[in-house]
Order: sequence, then C-alpha cells, then structure tokens
Amino acid sequence: MSGKLATRLREGTKQSHSLAENADFIQCFLKGVVEKTSYRQLLGNFYFVYTALEEQLTQHQNHPLLSQLYFPELYRQQSLATDLSYYWGPQWQTAITPSDATQRYVDRINDIAIADPILLVAHSYTRYLGDLSGGQLLKKLAQRGMSLPQGQGIAFYEFDDIQTPKTFKATYRQSLDSLHLDEATITRIVDEANLAFKLNMELFKEVEGNLIQAIGQMIFSHL
Ligand code: HEM
Repeated sequence: MSGKLATRLREGTKQSHSLAENADFIQCFLKGVVEKTSYRQLLGNFYFVYTALEEQLTQHQNHPLLSQLYFPELYRQQSLATDLSYYWGPQWQTAITPSDATQRYVDRINDIAIADPILLVAHSYTRYLGDLSGGQLLKKLAQRGMSLPQGQGIAFYEFDDIQTPKTFKATYRQSLDSLHLDEATITRIVDEANLAFKLNMELFKEVEGNLIQAIGQMIFSHL
C-alpha cells in the first residue's frame, strides 16, 4: 500500500477514530452529560501530555522533516493553563498530578522523541487535527453541559492564531504530504497514530470511572 501521508493517516486510523468517538466519556459528552470534576481531571491530564508534546516539537523544530510541521500556533499548553486556572483556581499547578494513563502517554512521547523523533508527527496529527475538527463541537457541548459563563473554561478549543480551522487543516495535510518518507516510515507513523488514539482512549477510560462515581454519588444523595 502506498500513498501520501495525510491520506494514509486518515485511512489508517479510521477504525481508531470510530472507537474514540464511541468511548463512553465522549458519548456522554455528546449527550450533554458533562461532569465538571471529570472534565477538569481530563484537562489536567492533557496539560501534561501537551506540555511533553510541545516541548519535544519545539526541541525538534530544526529537524529536517519535523521542521515542516512546526506550527506553534497549534500549541495548547497556555490555553490549558488558562482553563485549569478557571476550573481549579489559582493553585491549579499544585492540584494536578498525572494519572497512570497520562504518565504512559507522556513517557511514550518522550521515548520516541529520543528513539525515533519522526513519530512525533503521529502524536501531533492525532491531537491537533482532532482539536480542530470534532473539538469544535465538544466546545459547544462543554459550554452547554456545564452551563459555563460566556467565554469561560473553553480556551482549550480556541485557536486565536488560526483564523479558519478548515484552511489550516488543509495546510497541515499538505505539509504531511510534502514529507519525503519511505514506506516503512509511513507505516511506523500510522501505527504510532493508532497507538496515540489508544493512549487517548485510556485517558477517557480513567475519567469515565470518575464520571460513573460522580453520577452514582448524585443519585445516592437524592435517595
Ligand atoms: C477528524 C469528529 C473525536 C481525532 C474529524 C472530523 C470530524 C470529527 C467531523 C473530520 C474533519 C475534516 O475532515 O475536516 C469527531 C467527533 C468526535 C471526535 C464528533 C467526538 C465527539 C475525536 C477524538 C480524536 C479525534 C477523541 C483523537 C483522540 C481526529 C483526527 C482527525 C479527526 C486526527 C483528522 C482526520 C483526518 O482528516 O485525517 N473528527 N471527532 N477525533 N478527528 Fe475527530
């Protein structure tokens, strides 16, 4: 199988995408059930993941191939810090710790950055193209589900330096396609993207547990 990287990634992660969309946590989100404790937990975990990813992408900004995918306008670390301060308060930095699944995700990013840095493309693709796609729907659902005051707690979904996500995604895909890669490398990147989806689902699974617990407590307190 051959083809350009953007298409290979889209085709090669289709099944993972369906699984991620169908994760219980995401399904609850889609039904408007968004529980603040679980949500801020997820954002806290994302903070560690994006910090690792963005540190590594910045460190590799002069890499012959990764330089072509160096888009700091995508970076989410600052927007996550803004949201975390909203959900946890000014002491948010001492309130959050990486969960087990988060640590595994962070370790994986840091390990490949040393062993096989081109695989960082897979992690960048999985998170940022997702944030620019389904993420825009999740923003509206978060606002509605948690009855957030206008403009609060949704910085994660706002890309101030990107005017039109659709146009940016086209540019990003062109950059993926312009990378000169052999078949073995393309296969490794697609495999890594599937792993990135799996790591995300493990994060969702952890917060699903919290969500079920919180709903249970709510029901119990009404008995
Ligand atoms: C693309 C929806 C969850 C990662 C897309 C697209 C849609 C979408 C409509 C196509 C956008 C386009 O072609 O321009 C959703 C919905 C979700 C969801 C409704 C859940 C409610 C996720 C999750 C991840 C993710 C959890 C990753 C962890 C991606 C990626 C793409 C994408 C990487 C780009 C596919 C490509 O064009 O190569 N999503 N998504 N999505 N989504 Fe999701």
